[in-house]
Amino acid sequence: MKLENKVAVITGAASGMGRAMAKLFALEGAKVIASDINSEGVESLIAELKGAPGEVTYCHADVSKKEDCDNMIDTAVKKYGTLDILVNNAGIMDGMMPVSELTDDLWDRVMGINLNSVMYSCRHAINIMTQRGTKGCIINIASVGGLQGCRAGAAYTASKFAVVGLTRNIGYMYATKGIRCNAICPGGIETNIGMGLRAPSQFGMEKASLGVILSPRFGKAEEVAEVAVFLASDAASFVNGTTVTVDGGWTAF
Ligand code: NAI
Repeated sequence: MKLENKVAVITGAASGMGRAMAKLFALEGAKVIASDINSEGVESLIAELKGAPGEVTYCHADVSKKEDCDNMIDTAVKKYGTLDILVNNAGIMDGMMPVSELTDDLWDRVMGINLNSVMYSCRHAINIMTQRGTKGCIINIASVGGLQGCRAGAAYTASKFAVVGLTRNIGYMYATKGIRCNAICPGGIETNIGMGLRAPSQFGMEKASLGVILSPRFGKAEEVAEVAVFLASDAASFVNGTTVTVDGGWTAF
């Protein structure tokens, strides 16, 4: 098993890639604190995983709130005595809003969930890892929208570019402490994320959709989970401060 007895926190674990990662991590022997605002998806996963080598425990956390992020990390340390792996996965879309149509509320909401959460959780986790001398690993789920200009609206794009920057900064800053920090940049993956708003921007949709035809296919959440297991495992011991694009070749064009 690639993650035997490793203690992991995964955010947004009730659905999509977070759920697939929590499942595969547990099958690879990890003890997973699976956080989300929605308990149902995690509870059904826990039922599905009876008899698995690892285990999954639900922790309620709205990751846009600092206290919830701190509490989720503390829950892992209290329950298992350590924290080895943090996966910042929870995220929302922005209805493809171009900047001219963007409201302050939407900007704040997208930044709160997609970006501030990553900083809050990394900060607390790294303080604990450095105090304890843990050789920890952080994986941030960014997006191809964090590498290219028009895969989503303005807020989502800005949030994911910032996640990539934060990842590189953390990766370098803490490399000599034995902490690795990488980002996965998925392309289009079949999940429940949708457009994130009931009424997406028509203008933004038209612009952001132009490149979709270049994507060979949609990916599956499990295909991203496999990459996360690799990055979290000792097999990736020299992979740090970088992005791994998982898009079936979409951005290679
Ligand atoms: P999803 O919608 O299936 O799952 C997202 C999970 O995050 C849900 O369980 C939701 O309840 C949770 N969540 C939302 N707001 C939250 C909050 N405030 N606090 C805690 N949990 C919250 O979406 P998916 O696609 O699995 O998304 C996971 C990550 O992957 C996101 O960061 C997204 O931006 C990123 N991504 C998704 C792509 C896709 O095509 N699906 C492509 C590239 C990146």
